[in-house]
Amino acid sequence: MKISLTVNGNLHTSEVEPRTLLVHYIREHLGLTATNVGCDTSSCGACTVHLDGEAVKSCTILAVQADECDVTTVEGLAKNGEMHPMQKAFMENHGLQCGFCTPGMVMAAISLLREIPNPSEEEVRIGLEGNLCRCTGYHNIVKSVLDAASKGAAGR
Ligand code: FES
Ligand code: FES
Repeated sequence: MKISLTVNGNLHTSEVEPRTLLVHYIREHLGLTATNVGCDTSSCGACTVHLDGEAVKSCTILAVQADECDVTTVEGLAKNGEMHPMQKAFMENHGLQCGFCTPGMVMAAISLLREIPNPSEEEVRIGLEGNLCRCTGYHNIVKSVLDAASKGAAGR
């Protein structure tokens, strides 16, 4: 099937099999490999991207369902060579170790701040419960999101 969608500001028109998952389209057709696949069960969140501004697990969506949509992956967050404030906050607060979960975590966290600009620690923990990290114990991830919120990342 033919699909046309905007990914990180660039329009892509492609032929895909109807069964192609959005995450596979992003990684294999477009070569944007920061979006990871961490499970087969829609439970880890490593594949989280924004679809028309909302965080979605791209392993649960067919590429054809994203036809005519606007997709943002973590590669599309930096502007003019400057990291997004959420990316900076993860870096400054040691919110990652291996980094495998980080792209999905960052995308989910940005989406969370769009809904709750100044969340409590509990709201961050609840908001990110669909994203699993095998390394950090979550403490520094939560700290990163709270730091980003305090620096006004919600508007970005
Ligand atoms: S790869 Fe999508 S939720 Fe795990
Ligand atoms: S930093 Fe390794 S899985 Fe989260």
